Amino acid sequence: MKVLGLETSCDETGLAIFDSEQINSDNQGLVGQVLYSQIELHALYGGVVPELASRDHIRKLVPLLNELLEQCDMKKSEIDAIAYTKGPGLIGALMTGALFGRSLAYGLDIPAIGIHHMEGHLLAPLMGANPPAFPFVSLLVSGGHTLLIAAHGVGQYEILGESIDDAAGECFDKAAKMLGLPYPGGPNIAKLAETGNPDAYALPRPMLHRGLDFSFSGMKTAVHNLIKDTEGSDSDPQVRADIAASFQHAVVDTLVKKCVKALKQAGMSRLVIAGGVSANTHLRETLEAELDKINATVHYAPPALCTDNGAMIAYAGFERLQAGQSDDLAVSCIPRWPM
Ligand code: KG4
Ligand code: ZN
Repeated sequence: MKVLGLETSCDETGLAIFDSEQINSDNQGLVGQVLYSQIELHALYGGVVPELASRDHIRKLVPLLNELLEQCDMKKSEIDAIAYTKGPGLIGALMTGALFGRSLAYGLDIPAIGIHHMEGHLLAPLMGANPPAFPFVSLLVSGGHTLLIAAHGVGQYEILGESIDDAAGECFDKAAKMLGLPYPGGPNIAKLAETGNPDAYALPRPMLHRGLDFSFSGMKTAVHNLIKDTEGSDSDPQVRADIAASFQHAVVDTLVKKCVKALKQAGMSRLVIAGGVSANTHLRETLEAELDKINATVHYAPPALCTDNGAMIAYAGFERLQAGQSDDLAVSCIPRWPM
């Protein structure tokens, strides 16, 4: 089955084709993908402007589909089903992809299915020939969410913990802004941290010993105070690198400790990490080392499938369609949609 996936929940227009018959080949079923980022468009305003995001998705969707089909050497008529992001996200942006996907499926007389964006992230590391088996604990860390989930099967998700305020990615973005680094902050902080000392400054690990929930809003204040305390010296590249490394270390340490706790509480031995922050190398390496100590394993997608993309929506769509689900002709988007 060849599924076209469409992702338009925020500022990336992502399209991809997943072919279940090619799951054992080198491409792991991912026949092709195109991704257009609106980052430059929104950079002028210091954040995503919803109206501009919707207009830009509309402008790009049809040309990107043509580019994708050309890349895959496929005709529209060869697509078997269409999956689009139904929520959560910016309502206007979601509607562009949903309406485009639903209408194209109607025209081609094939099924269409709306996908929860975070389920797309959650299932992305399962694409390929040897996916980690259910059940597993999933750490979903993106710009809008920080969730610990016990995943018992496709669609069977039990929330173990979540952030009571800022998401981990949001925290990276805010700390980056304070350090004068551009959006998205995560990769830029990670880069700056490469030359820094993670133990240079002691930053808080909020709610470390309180269940499986997270709180990251206090980190903002801590970084702000640290920058103020080192004022004058913060223009010193080493001080900036040390702040970035200490900050990254504090966030990663908190995430890792909660993951270990969640695995123990759920009685599981597999951890799957997903969402933009799961592309972070320090997080991956620390998890590998710590989970090894408790005979558990960590699984993740290649970096390009960690941040927003069409492939994860295509794959989640395939899984849902396999389970016998599809959406009717009425298009509905859900901007705020709990997992
Ligand atoms: O999943 P995603 O692409 O979009 C949302 O659904 O939110 O996640 C974006 C978030 C941003 O906050 C970005 O700063 C963060 O993921 N991110 C990273 C890295 N790459 C992206 N955070 C830390 N380290 C990275 N390498
Ligand atoms: Zn996302």
